[in-house]
Amino acid sequence: MKKVKVGIVGLGRLGRQHAENLAFRIPNCELTAVCSIIEEEAKKAQEEWGVKYAYTNYDEMIKNEELDAVLIASPSGFHCEQIEKALGANLHVFSEKPLGLYLEEAVRVEESVKKHEDKVFMLGFMRRYDKSYAYAKKKVEKGAIGEPVLIRCYGLDPSKAIGGFMNFAKNNYSGGLFLDMAIHDLDLARWYLNSEAKQVWAIGGAYGYPEIGQLNDAETGAALVKFENGTMGVFVAGRNCSHGYHIETEIIGTEGTLRIGTTPERNMVTVFNETGAVKECSEGFLERFEQAYLSEVEEFINCIREERKPAVTVEDGILSTALGYACKESFETGELVTVQSPHNVTRSTT
Ligand code: NAI
Repeated sequence: MKKVKVGIVGLGRLGRQHAENLAFRIPNCELTAVCSIIEEEAKKAQEEWGVKYAYTNYDEMIKNEELDAVLIASPSGFHCEQIEKALGANLHVFSEKPLGLYLEEAVRVEESVKKHEDKVFMLGFMRRYDKSYAYAKKKVEKGAIGEPVLIRCYGLDPSKAIGGFMNFAKNNYSGGLFLDMAIHDLDLARWYLNSEAKQVWAIGGAYGYPEIGQLNDAETGAALVKFENGTMGVFVAGRNCSHGYHIETEIIGTEGTLRIGTTPERNMVTVFNETGAVKECSEGFLERFEQAYLSEVEEFINCIREERKPAVTVEDGILSTALGYACKESFETGELVTVQSPHNVTRSTT
């Protein structure tokens, strides 16, 4: 098959990384088009990377008949609409997480993905493609810790990224702490525990950054989740981690425990000096998950070329969104929430 021609929408914090991967690090694809509502971003990317087409309008980009696929890295509130439009234009689709901010739109996307069976659809749960997380999954499957009983996850953004986050969240397109930040951990919990969530209690507040509270969001939050098979999840998410980007996962089983990223080390260097023995911490998602962002998009391109479907499905997107939404609802109401089946939802999106 010829090279897969991809157009990307969104050239912000993550979009640029995906675009560079598509342009330079994945041999079987070509970055054919870039799109951002900010014209300078699109033009700069086009000139810097020698991209054939640059757009400020997504609808115009997907009319381009040279394209085989789109990668959606726009703010989360646009994902569902852009996925549906791309599938409607007969394009393969990779979308960043979360699938959607509301369950109704996520369910609509599921229908659309099912209608376009011949197209590859993949969601950006890149941690499943991180070497350590994938290794841990194999260990769990081989029974290295017996039966998993509890998962404990920390997903903490560095305090110094707060400016970038406020900019990202200002139009209320983030979906809030649980749908935006904890969603990776919620998906991992479903993956490792092999079960769906049943009940959720979530709490949180804005302690160091009251401006996050003004967005009706939590700066630091916690959720306790009971899964259908009786297992448990403890999720801590936050935007104010002073030592860096702290992503840690622990899976406790009947015959052992497994931890990933207990100290969020940047690399294997320890600096010994007057402050002690210092291990520098990873500073952000681009650094920590550099390999995973590349591997997941490589998999997307390979799936298109080999006419097969990726392991991360639209159902994973919907069920994680349903759980993230239940966390958000519990945080906002202070109530214990039963996770709804995404297919029985009538809430309005307005
Ligand atoms: P950002 O705010 O830095 O960038 C958004 C980009 O989209 C900008 O280039 C903006 O001009 C463009 N844009 C906005 N509205 C548009 C529209 N209607 N049409 C075309 N372009 C539009 O956002 P960031 O941080 O790059 O996040 C993008 C998405 O990636 C979000 O959904 C976020 O949840 C997800 N994300 C995922 C991560 C992961 O670990 N998988 C990490 C960071 C973000």
